[in-house]
Amino acid sequence: KDYDFGLVGLGVMGRNFILNVADNNFKAFGYDLDTEKVDALKTEGGNLERVNATSDIKTFVDALAQPRKIMLLVPAGKIVDSVIENLLPFLAKDDIIIDGGNSFFTDTDRRETYLQEKGIHFFGSGVSGGAEGARKGPSIMPGGNKEAYQHVKPIFEAVSAKFKGEPCVAYLGPKSAGNYVKMVHNGIEYGLMQLTSEIYDLLRKSCGLTNEELHATFDAWNKGRLQSFLIEITSEIFEQKDDKAEGYLVDKILDKAKQKGTGKWTSQNAMDLGIPVPSIDIAVSMREISALKEERVLADTLYDRPKPGKIDKNELLTMAEEALYFAFITTYAQGLHQLADASKEYQYQLDMSVIAKIWRAGCIIRAGLLEDISSAFSADKQLPNLLLAPTFVPKVQETVASARELVAYAAKSGIPLPGLSNSLVYFDAYTSSNLPLNLIQAQRDYFGSHTYERTDMEGIFHTEWGA
Ligand code: 6PG
Repeated sequence: KDYDFGLVGLGVMGRNFILNVADNNFKAFGYDLDTEKVDALKTEGGNLERVNATSDIKTFVDALAQPRKIMLLVPAGKIVDSVIENLLPFLAKDDIIIDGGNSFFTDTDRRETYLQEKGIHFFGSGVSGGAEGARKGPSIMPGGNKEAYQHVKPIFEAVSAKFKGEPCVAYLGPKSAGNYVKMVHNGIEYGLMQLTSEIYDLLRKSCGLTNEELHATFDAWNKGRLQSFLIEITSEIFEQKDDKAEGYLVDKILDKAKQKGTGKWTSQNAMDLGIPVPSIDIAVSMREISALKEERVLADTLYDRPKPGKIDKNELLTMAEEALYFAFITTYAQGLHQLADASKEYQYQLDMSVIAKIWRAGCIIRAGLLEDISSAFSADKQLPNLLLAPTFVPKVQETVASARELVAYAAKSGIPLPGLSNSLVYFDAYTSSNLPLNLIQAQRDYFGSHTYERTDMEGIFHTEWGA
């Protein structure tokens, strides 16, 4: 009864996470119905005192020291509920269940309320960094009961990624705060991936950059202000040779991107909150358009496409780096804006500077930029939008012109840059003191008597238009 940590679900993520826990001198016990996975973990763990596993739920629960800390790394959805039901008869008051998957935040709220009645603490805790992160140090985003978190804290701080020695985990807030933050992390991930992919498209279609050149370009960018995990792996992707045929692997991959839903949830919930996140919305739409491969192929034969205009390669590369930096900033800005608003709506008490800090290492959207983002929010805890941060104004000011140039060039050349275009549109609209929505108000009042406000007097007005 002296294992410090229990883990349900010994798939790749679960196995890696439990080995990481054991590496950090905690005794860990795994549970999975699949006996092959159980045996594999025992063999890999090397010492049953350190890492043990079973397919028997009672043996599993009994092996853990109280209050038990049991993490679930199972697919989001009904499985989480059924694992909880299976565990419940064996648990004691104050035991802690941590859901490490990408569960939808309202499911987490429901589960927390349900388990609270039974004296069990429930944590929705996003884990980012893929299989390698789980093994070597992920970014962890826990939310739930603050006192109960103290029991989990030493383990999470030990296993998480470190940024200059600081653990990439922090208690984020009550209820589903952790899952919500992870959901928006994924929304931002979608946005950054879309932007990276379209800059690749622009570089290859306009100046015919080869994979070798693309590798060198992204590698160089990764050494500068764009330094980030996604730019780093992108540079490596361009080097990867195909092991089944001649050439580079990236050229053989079908251009239909799948999705598991977290990006879509981010967009959907942003709409519910009334917070604009167009760079994330379009990233979701592009995965949907990509799935329509057969229709795209047919449509391509029906319409002429302009030939890409002439453009100097070196100038293009300079502009592409600037535009990407600009769009990365505006994408983070939108995601963080959504988090700030969600924090009010759902009483999460999120601290944006802490969130940016725990994203600096371990997670998929880790980037050099997050250090600056964290500082901006430490300087002003109430900052509504990153674009309003005095330290970000020059960064955006210096790079937005390239975004304009490239969007204009790409539009004329028939190369879609949807993420960059939407980032620019968002920026131009958000920074306009005058938008034409006065006309929309007039139209609404004209056809539906929806009323309007005036710029020069207080009150609500209606006009009999055309009378
Ligand atoms: C992470 C990732 C991960 C997510 C994948 C797949 O932070 O490690 O966000 O949690 O599941 O990126 O997402 P899609 O299949 O929706 O692209």
